[in-house]
Amino acid sequence: MKSSFIRELLKVTSQPDVISFGGGFPAAELFPIERTRAACDKVLKENGSKALQYATTEGYDPLRDWIVEFTAKQGVQVTRENVLLTSGSQQALDLIGRVFINRGDRVLTESPTYLGAIQAWNAYGAVYETIDTDDDGLNIEQLEKVIGHNIKFQYVLPNFQNPMGVSLSLERRKKLVEIANKSSVPLVEDDPYGALRFEGERVPSVAQLDAEYNGCDNGTMSGSVIYTSTFSKILAPGLRIGWVIAPDEVIKKMVQAKQGADLQGSTFDQYVAYELARGDWLDEHIETIRRVYKERRDAMLEAFEEFMPVGTSWTKPKGGLFLWLRLPEGCDTVELFSLALEEKVVYVPGAPFYPNSGPKNTMRLNFSASNPELIREGVRRLGNMAKRSILLMRSSHPSLRTQE
Ligand SMILES: Cc1ncc(COP(=O)(O)O)c(C=O)c1O
Repeated sequence: MKSSFIRELLKVTSQPDVISFGGGFPAAELFPIERTRAACDKVLKENGSKALQYATTEGYDPLRDWIVEFTAKQGVQVTRENVLLTSGSQQALDLIGRVFINRGDRVLTESPTYLGAIQAWNAYGAVYETIDTDDDGLNIEQLEKVIGHNIKFQYVLPNFQNPMGVSLSLERRKKLVEIANKSSVPLVEDDPYGALRFEGERVPSVAQLDAEYNGCDNGTMSGSVIYTSTFSKILAPGLRIGWVIAPDEVIKKMVQAKQGADLQGSTFDQYVAYELARGDWLDEHIETIRRVYKERRDAMLEAFEEFMPVGTSWTKPKGGLFLWLRLPEGCDTVELFSLALEEKVVYVPGAPFYPNSGPKNTMRLNFSASNPELIREGVRRLGNMAKRSILLMRSSHPSLRTQE
Protein backbone atom coordinates (compact mmCIF):
# COMPACT_ATOMS: atom_id res chain seq x y z
CA MET A 1 0.00 0.00 0.00
CA LYS A 2 1.20 3.50 -0.83
CA SER A 3 -0.23 6.59 0.79
CA SER A 4 -2.32 8.69 -1.60
CA PHE A 5 -0.08 11.18 -3.34
CA ILE A 6 -2.94 13.70 -3.41
CA ARG A 7 -3.73 13.45 0.29
CA GLU A 8 -0.03 13.88 1.15
CA LEU A 9 0.21 16.83 -1.20
CA LEU A 10 -2.80 18.56 0.31
CA LYS A 11 -1.11 18.46 3.71
CA VAL A 12 1.84 20.59 2.52
CA THR A 13 -0.17 23.03 0.47
CA SER A 14 -2.75 24.39 2.85
CA GLN A 15 -0.91 27.70 3.53
CA PRO A 16 -3.38 30.62 3.27
CA ASP A 17 -1.63 32.55 0.45
CA VAL A 18 -1.44 29.50 -1.82
CA ILE A 19 -4.24 29.10 -4.39
CA SER A 20 -5.08 25.44 -4.60
CA PHE A 21 -6.57 23.72 -7.62
CA GLY A 22 -5.44 20.48 -6.02
CA GLY A 23 -8.21 18.88 -3.94
CA GLY A 24 -11.45 17.48 -5.32
CA PHE A 25 -13.46 19.71 -3.01
CA PRO A 26 -17.02 20.84 -3.68
CA ALA A 27 -17.74 24.57 -3.09
CA ALA A 28 -17.96 24.78 0.71
CA GLU A 29 -20.00 28.01 0.61
CA LEU A 30 -22.87 26.04 -0.96
CA PHE A 31 -23.12 23.52 1.87
CA PRO A 32 -26.64 23.71 3.34
CA ILE A 33 -25.53 24.39 6.90
CA GLU A 34 -28.76 25.85 8.33
CA ARG A 35 -30.89 23.25 6.58
CA THR A 36 -28.63 20.49 7.94
CA ARG A 37 -28.94 21.92 11.46
CA ALA A 38 -32.74 21.88 11.11
CA ALA A 39 -32.65 18.33 9.75
CA CYS A 40 -30.51 17.19 12.71
CA ASP A 41 -32.97 18.79 15.16
CA LYS A 42 -35.91 17.13 13.43
CA VAL A 43 -34.24 13.70 13.39
CA LEU A 44 -33.31 13.93 17.07
CA LYS A 45 -36.74 15.18 18.09
CA GLU A 46 -38.76 12.68 16.08
CA ASN A 47 -36.47 9.65 15.79
CA GLY A 48 -33.60 10.26 18.22
CA SER A 49 -33.48 6.82 19.81
CA LYS A 50 -33.53 5.05 16.44
CA ALA A 51 -31.11 7.41 14.72
CA LEU A 52 -28.52 6.96 17.47
CA GLN A 53 -28.88 3.16 17.59
CA TYR A 54 -27.13 0.36 15.62
CA ALA A 55 -29.07 -0.49 12.48
CA THR A 56 -28.91 -2.78 9.44
CA THR A 57 -25.82 -3.02 7.26
CA GLU A 58 -27.83 -2.32 4.11
CA GLY A 59 -28.76 1.14 5.40
CA TYR A 60 -31.82 3.22 6.31
CA ASP A 61 -34.74 1.92 4.23
CA PRO A 62 -36.42 5.27 3.41
CA LEU A 63 -33.09 6.52 2.05
CA ARG A 64 -32.63 3.32 0.02
CA ASP A 65 -36.15 3.87 -1.37
CA TRP A 66 -35.27 7.46 -2.23
CA ILE A 67 -32.27 6.12 -4.19
CA VAL A 68 -34.58 3.65 -5.98
CA GLU A 69 -36.69 6.63 -7.14
CA PHE A 70 -33.67 8.76 -8.01
CA THR A 71 -32.32 5.87 -10.13
CA ALA A 72 -35.71 5.36 -11.83
CA LYS A 73 -35.64 9.00 -12.94
CA GLN A 74 -32.38 8.13 -14.70
CA GLY A 75 -34.01 5.24 -16.57
CA VAL A 76 -33.06 2.24 -14.44
CA GLN A 77 -35.69 0.36 -12.43
CA VAL A 78 -34.36 -1.30 -9.30
CA THR A 79 -35.74 -2.41 -5.96
CA ARG A 80 -34.55 -1.66 -2.45
CA GLU A 81 -32.73 -5.03 -2.47
CA ASN A 82 -30.48 -3.70 -5.24
CA VAL A 83 -29.29 -0.78 -3.10
CA LEU A 84 -26.57 -0.78 -0.44
CA LEU A 85 -25.60 2.41 1.38
CA THR A 86 -21.86 2.79 1.83
CA SER A 87 -19.49 5.15 3.60
CA GLY A 88 -18.98 7.31 0.53
CA SER A 89 -18.68 5.68 -2.86
CA GLN A 90 -15.04 5.13 -1.93
CA GLN A 91 -16.19 2.32 0.35
CA ALA A 92 -18.25 0.89 -2.50
CA LEU A 93 -15.04 0.63 -4.54
CA ASP A 94 -13.25 -1.03 -1.63
CA LEU A 95 -16.08 -3.55 -1.14
CA ILE A 96 -16.05 -4.35 -4.86
CA GLY A 97 -12.34 -5.09 -4.44
CA ARG A 98 -12.98 -7.32 -1.40
CA VAL A 99 -15.69 -9.30 -3.15
CA PHE A 100 -14.21 -9.66 -6.62
CA ILE A 101 -10.43 -9.34 -6.61
CA ASN A 102 -8.08 -12.20 -5.85
CA ARG A 103 -4.36 -11.41 -5.80
CA GLY A 104 -3.09 -11.16 -9.37
CA ASP A 105 -6.54 -10.61 -10.95
CA ARG A 106 -6.61 -8.31 -13.93
CA VAL A 107 -8.82 -5.25 -13.69
CA LEU A 108 -9.40 -3.13 -16.76
CA THR A 109 -9.27 0.61 -16.19
CA GLU A 110 -9.07 3.80 -18.16
CA SER A 111 -5.70 5.49 -18.30
CA PRO A 112 -5.71 7.91 -16.56
CA THR A 113 -8.35 6.89 -14.02
CA TYR A 114 -9.57 7.69 -10.48
CA LEU A 115 -6.65 7.30 -8.12
CA GLY A 116 -8.85 6.24 -5.18
CA ALA A 117 -9.97 3.11 -7.04
CA ILE A 118 -6.39 2.11 -7.74
CA GLN A 119 -5.53 2.72 -4.10
CA ALA A 120 -8.47 0.58 -2.95
CA TRP A 121 -7.72 -2.31 -5.30
CA ASN A 122 -3.95 -2.34 -4.87
CA ALA A 123 -4.64 -3.61 -1.35
CA TYR A 124 -6.24 -6.76 -2.86
CA GLY A 125 -3.38 -7.36 -5.31
CA ALA A 126 -5.08 -6.21 -8.53
CA VAL A 127 -3.01 -5.78 -11.67
CA TYR A 128 -4.20 -3.36 -14.30
CA GLU A 129 -4.85 -3.69 -17.97
CA THR A 130 -5.31 -0.13 -19.17
CA ILE A 131 -6.88 1.62 -22.12
CA ASP A 132 -6.19 5.18 -23.14
CA THR A 133 -8.76 7.88 -22.52
CA ASP A 134 -9.09 10.79 -24.95
CA ASP A 135 -11.51 13.72 -25.12
CA ASP A 136 -14.43 11.32 -25.92
CA GLY A 137 -13.63 8.94 -23.09
CA LEU A 138 -12.03 5.51 -23.26
CA ASN A 139 -10.69 4.15 -26.53
CA ILE A 140 -13.04 1.39 -27.70
CA GLU A 141 -10.68 -0.09 -30.28
CA GLN A 142 -8.12 -0.76 -27.58
CA LEU A 143 -10.84 -2.20 -25.36
CA GLU A 144 -11.83 -4.70 -28.05
CA LYS A 145 -8.22 -5.89 -28.22
CA VAL A 146 -7.71 -6.48 -24.48
CA ILE A 147 -11.14 -7.64 -23.32
CA GLY A 148 -10.31 -11.31 -23.99
CA HIS A 149 -7.26 -11.16 -21.71
CA ASN A 150 -8.87 -12.79 -18.68
CA ILE A 151 -10.30 -9.58 -17.20
CA LYS A 152 -12.16 -9.75 -13.86
CA PHE A 153 -14.12 -6.53 -14.39
CA GLN A 154 -13.91 -3.20 -16.20
CA TYR A 155 -13.97 0.09 -14.31
CA VAL A 156 -15.37 3.10 -16.14
CA LEU A 157 -16.18 6.73 -15.32
CA PRO A 158 -18.48 7.82 -18.15
CA ASN A 159 -19.45 11.28 -16.79
CA PHE A 160 -16.94 14.11 -16.33
CA GLN A 161 -14.24 11.65 -15.46
CA ASN A 162 -11.86 12.21 -12.58
CA PRO A 163 -9.15 13.26 -13.46
CA MET A 164 -9.69 14.52 -17.04
CA GLY A 165 -13.24 15.90 -16.88
CA VAL A 166 -14.08 14.17 -20.19
CA SER A 167 -17.25 12.15 -20.89
CA LEU A 168 -17.81 8.95 -22.81
CA SER A 169 -19.82 9.60 -25.98
CA LEU A 170 -23.17 7.83 -26.46
CA GLU A 171 -21.79 5.82 -29.35
CA ARG A 172 -18.88 4.57 -27.25
CA ARG A 173 -21.17 3.80 -24.28
CA LYS A 174 -23.30 1.59 -26.52
CA LYS A 175 -20.23 -0.19 -27.86
CA LEU A 176 -18.88 -0.64 -24.33
CA VAL A 177 -22.12 -2.29 -23.21
CA GLU A 178 -22.16 -4.55 -26.25
CA ILE A 179 -18.55 -5.64 -25.61
CA ALA A 180 -19.25 -6.21 -21.90
CA ASN A 181 -22.25 -8.42 -22.67
CA LYS A 182 -20.58 -10.39 -25.44
CA SER A 183 -17.45 -11.03 -23.36
CA SER A 184 -19.32 -11.49 -20.03
CA VAL A 185 -16.90 -9.13 -18.30
CA PRO A 186 -18.86 -7.11 -15.70
CA LEU A 187 -18.73 -3.33 -15.72
CA VAL A 188 -18.25 -1.14 -12.66
CA GLU A 189 -19.73 2.29 -13.46
CA ASP A 190 -18.53 4.99 -11.05
CA ASP A 191 -20.74 8.06 -11.38
CA PRO A 192 -20.24 10.68 -8.67
CA TYR A 193 -20.59 13.61 -11.09
CA GLY A 194 -23.48 12.60 -13.41
CA ALA A 195 -25.95 14.99 -11.75
CA LEU A 196 -23.55 17.90 -12.21
CA ARG A 197 -23.93 18.46 -15.95
CA PHE A 198 -24.01 22.15 -16.79
CA GLU A 199 -23.91 21.95 -20.57
CA GLY A 200 -25.35 19.69 -23.27
CA GLU A 201 -27.93 16.90 -23.22
CA ARG A 202 -27.90 14.15 -20.61
CA VAL A 203 -26.34 10.94 -21.98
CA PRO A 204 -27.86 7.69 -20.66
CA SER A 205 -25.80 5.87 -18.04
CA VAL A 206 -24.03 2.64 -18.92
CA ALA A 207 -26.40 0.90 -16.47
CA GLN A 208 -29.40 2.21 -18.42
CA LEU A 209 -27.94 1.21 -21.81
CA ASP A 210 -27.09 -2.21 -20.41
CA ALA A 211 -30.69 -2.71 -19.29
CA GLU A 212 -31.91 -1.67 -22.75
CA TYR A 213 -29.36 -3.93 -24.49
CA ASN A 214 -30.64 -6.88 -22.51
CA GLY A 215 -34.20 -6.15 -23.58
CA CYS A 216 -35.45 -5.16 -20.14
CA ASP A 217 -38.13 -2.80 -21.45
CA ASN A 218 -38.85 -1.45 -18.02
CA GLY A 219 -35.11 -0.99 -17.44
CA THR A 220 -34.77 -3.78 -14.85
CA MET A 221 -31.17 -4.41 -13.76
CA SER A 222 -29.73 -6.95 -16.14
CA GLY A 223 -26.80 -8.20 -14.14
CA SER A 224 -23.79 -6.84 -16.09
CA VAL A 225 -23.33 -3.49 -14.33
CA ILE A 226 -22.45 -2.50 -10.78
CA TYR A 227 -23.22 1.19 -10.45
CA THR A 228 -22.02 3.50 -7.72
CA SER A 229 -22.74 7.13 -6.84
CA THR A 230 -22.67 9.44 -3.85
CA PHE A 231 -24.16 12.36 -1.93
CA SER A 232 -20.66 13.86 -1.67
CA LYS A 233 -20.91 16.16 -4.66
CA ILE A 234 -24.63 17.02 -4.53
CA LEU A 235 -24.97 17.49 -0.74
CA ALA A 236 -21.79 17.27 1.33
CA PRO A 237 -18.82 14.87 1.40
CA GLY A 238 -18.61 15.11 5.20
CA LEU A 239 -21.79 13.04 5.46
CA ARG A 240 -19.88 10.12 3.94
CA ILE A 241 -22.88 8.56 2.23
CA GLY A 242 -22.59 6.80 -1.09
CA TRP A 243 -24.44 3.88 -2.63
CA VAL A 244 -24.04 0.83 -4.83
CA ILE A 245 -26.70 -0.50 -7.17
CA ALA A 246 -26.18 -4.08 -8.22
CA PRO A 247 -27.99 -7.37 -8.72
CA ASP A 248 -29.27 -8.89 -5.43
CA GLU A 249 -26.61 -11.61 -5.27
CA VAL A 250 -23.80 -9.04 -5.59
CA ILE A 251 -25.39 -6.82 -2.93
CA LYS A 252 -25.61 -9.80 -0.54
CA LYS A 253 -21.86 -10.45 -0.90
CA MET A 254 -21.06 -6.77 -0.49
CA VAL A 255 -23.19 -6.64 2.66
CA GLN A 256 -21.12 -9.48 4.14
CA ALA A 257 -17.93 -7.64 3.20
CA LYS A 258 -19.25 -4.41 4.75
CA GLN A 259 -20.12 -6.18 8.01
CA GLY A 260 -16.45 -7.11 8.34
CA ALA A 261 -15.38 -3.57 7.52
CA ASP A 262 -17.63 -1.38 9.70
CA LEU A 263 -20.89 -3.25 10.55
CA GLN A 264 -22.91 -0.39 9.02
CA GLY A 265 -22.74 3.24 7.97
CA SER A 266 -23.73 6.02 10.40
CA THR A 267 -27.44 5.63 11.20
CA PHE A 268 -27.72 9.27 12.23
CA ASP A 269 -26.13 10.60 9.04
CA GLN A 270 -28.44 8.48 6.92
CA TYR A 271 -31.52 9.84 8.72
CA VAL A 272 -30.24 13.40 8.22
CA ALA A 273 -29.42 12.81 4.54
CA TYR A 274 -32.93 11.47 4.02
CA GLU A 275 -34.45 14.60 5.58
CA LEU A 276 -32.33 16.73 3.24
CA ALA A 277 -32.98 14.66 0.12
CA ARG A 278 -36.77 14.24 0.38
CA GLY A 279 -39.02 16.86 -1.22
CA ASP A 280 -38.00 19.30 -3.96
CA TRP A 281 -35.20 21.20 -2.27
CA LEU A 282 -32.33 18.92 -3.37
CA ASP A 283 -33.25 19.35 -7.06
CA GLU A 284 -33.10 23.13 -6.63
CA HIS A 285 -29.83 22.82 -4.76
CA ILE A 286 -28.29 20.74 -7.56
CA GLU A 287 -29.39 23.45 -10.02
CA THR A 288 -27.52 26.03 -7.94
CA ILE A 289 -24.40 23.87 -7.83
CA ARG A 290 -24.51 23.45 -11.61
CA ARG A 291 -24.86 27.20 -12.17
CA VAL A 292 -21.98 28.07 -9.85
CA TYR A 293 -19.66 25.37 -11.24
CA LYS A 294 -20.38 26.46 -14.80
CA GLU A 295 -19.33 30.03 -13.90
CA ARG A 296 -16.15 28.65 -12.36
CA ARG A 297 -15.35 26.39 -15.29
CA ASP A 298 -15.89 29.32 -17.66
CA ALA A 299 -13.62 31.51 -15.54
CA MET A 300 -10.88 28.88 -15.74
CA LEU A 301 -11.21 28.39 -19.51
CA GLU A 302 -11.17 32.16 -20.12
CA ALA A 303 -8.11 32.59 -17.91
CA PHE A 304 -6.31 29.79 -19.82
CA GLU A 305 -6.86 31.70 -23.07
CA GLU A 306 -5.36 34.78 -21.45
CA PHE A 307 -2.43 33.35 -19.50
CA MET A 308 -1.36 29.95 -20.85
CA PRO A 309 1.63 29.87 -23.19
CA VAL A 310 1.59 28.39 -26.70
CA GLY A 311 2.07 24.63 -26.57
CA THR A 312 -0.32 23.99 -23.67
CA SER A 313 -3.76 22.42 -24.15
CA TRP A 314 -6.69 21.51 -21.95
CA THR A 315 -10.00 19.62 -21.82
CA LYS A 316 -13.35 21.46 -21.75
CA PRO A 317 -15.61 19.52 -19.40
CA LYS A 318 -19.38 19.88 -19.61
CA GLY A 319 -19.87 19.09 -15.95
CA GLY A 320 -18.15 17.88 -12.80
CA LEU A 321 -15.28 19.39 -10.85
CA PHE A 322 -12.07 18.95 -12.85
CA LEU A 323 -10.22 19.62 -16.03
CA TRP A 324 -6.94 18.36 -17.41
CA LEU A 325 -4.08 20.54 -18.58
CA ARG A 326 -1.20 19.41 -20.78
CA LEU A 327 2.14 21.23 -20.84
CA PRO A 328 4.43 20.72 -23.83
CA GLU A 329 6.06 17.30 -24.08
CA GLY A 330 9.28 17.13 -22.08
CA CYS A 331 7.81 18.98 -19.06
CA ASP A 332 7.43 16.85 -15.94
CA THR A 333 4.68 18.16 -13.65
CA VAL A 334 5.98 16.20 -10.63
CA GLU A 335 9.41 17.82 -10.97
CA LEU A 336 7.81 21.21 -11.67
CA PHE A 337 5.71 21.12 -8.54
CA SER A 338 8.31 23.12 -6.57
CA LEU A 339 8.14 25.82 -9.25
CA ALA A 340 4.37 25.99 -8.78
CA LEU A 341 4.85 26.33 -5.02
CA GLU A 342 7.20 29.27 -5.65
CA GLU A 343 4.38 30.86 -7.68
CA LYS A 344 1.98 29.95 -4.83
CA VAL A 345 -0.36 27.81 -6.84
CA VAL A 346 -1.08 24.10 -6.50
CA TYR A 347 -2.22 21.40 -8.93
CA VAL A 348 -2.17 17.63 -8.89
CA PRO A 349 0.44 16.12 -11.23
CA GLY A 350 -1.14 13.75 -13.76
CA ALA A 351 1.32 10.85 -13.49
CA PRO A 352 -0.19 9.13 -10.40
CA PHE A 353 -3.53 8.76 -12.22
CA TYR A 354 -2.02 6.33 -14.71
CA PRO A 355 -2.28 2.85 -13.16
CA ASN A 356 0.75 1.55 -15.06
CA SER A 357 2.53 4.47 -16.69
CA GLY A 358 1.69 7.52 -18.76
CA PRO A 359 2.84 10.93 -19.90
CA LYS A 360 4.50 13.19 -17.35
CA ASN A 361 3.40 16.57 -18.73
CA THR A 362 -0.20 16.57 -17.45
CA MET A 363 -1.99 17.96 -14.40
CA ARG A 364 -5.48 17.84 -12.87
CA LEU A 365 -7.08 21.13 -11.91
CA ASN A 366 -10.15 21.59 -9.76
CA PHE A 367 -12.44 24.52 -10.57
CA SER A 368 -15.32 23.94 -8.13
CA ALA A 369 -13.64 25.09 -4.93
CA SER A 370 -12.46 28.62 -5.87
CA ASN A 371 -14.44 31.69 -6.89
CA PRO A 372 -13.87 33.23 -10.37
CA GLU A 373 -11.47 35.98 -9.14
CA LEU A 374 -9.31 33.44 -7.33
CA ILE A 375 -9.41 31.17 -10.37
CA ARG A 376 -8.19 34.00 -12.62
CA GLU A 377 -5.33 34.86 -10.25
CA GLY A 378 -4.45 31.15 -9.78
CA VAL A 379 -4.32 30.58 -13.55
CA ARG A 380 -2.16 33.71 -13.96
CA ARG A 381 0.32 32.16 -11.51
CA LEU A 382 0.04 28.80 -13.26
CA GLY A 383 0.73 30.53 -16.58
CA ASN A 384 3.93 32.01 -15.09
CA MET A 385 4.93 28.59 -13.87
CA ALA A 386 4.21 27.06 -17.30
CA LYS A 387 6.27 29.74 -19.09
CA ARG A 388 9.17 29.20 -16.69
CA SER A 389 8.96 25.43 -17.10
CA ILE A 390 9.01 25.67 -20.90
CA LEU A 391 12.14 27.85 -20.73
CA LEU A 392 13.76 25.40 -18.32
CA MET A 393 12.85 22.43 -20.47
CA ARG A 394 14.24 24.06 -23.60
CA SER A 395 17.50 24.94 -21.90
CA SER A 396 17.98 21.32 -20.76
CA HIS A 397 16.73 19.78 -24.10
CA PRO A 398 18.08 22.09 -26.83
CA SER A 399 16.51 19.87 -29.54
CA LEU A 400 13.06 21.00 -28.34
CA ARG A 401 13.85 24.66 -28.94
CA THR A 402 12.26 24.75 -32.34
CA GLN A 403 8.94 23.34 -31.05
CA GLU A 404 6.22 25.87 -30.39
C1 LIG B 1 -14.52 9.06 -9.44
C2 LIG B 1 -14.71 9.06 -7.97
N1 LIG B 1 -15.20 7.98 -7.37
C3 LIG B 1 -15.39 7.95 -6.05
C4 LIG B 1 -15.08 9.03 -5.26
C5 LIG B 1 -15.29 8.93 -3.77
O1 LIG B 1 -16.20 9.85 -3.30
P1 LIG B 1 -16.99 9.67 -1.94
O2 LIG B 1 -16.34 8.55 -1.19
O3 LIG B 1 -16.87 10.97 -1.24
O4 LIG B 1 -18.38 9.32 -2.32
C6 LIG B 1 -14.57 10.20 -5.84
C7 LIG B 1 -14.20 11.35 -5.01
O5 LIG B 1 -13.73 12.35 -5.42
C8 LIG B 1 -14.38 10.21 -7.24
O6 LIG B 1 -13.89 11.27 -7.87
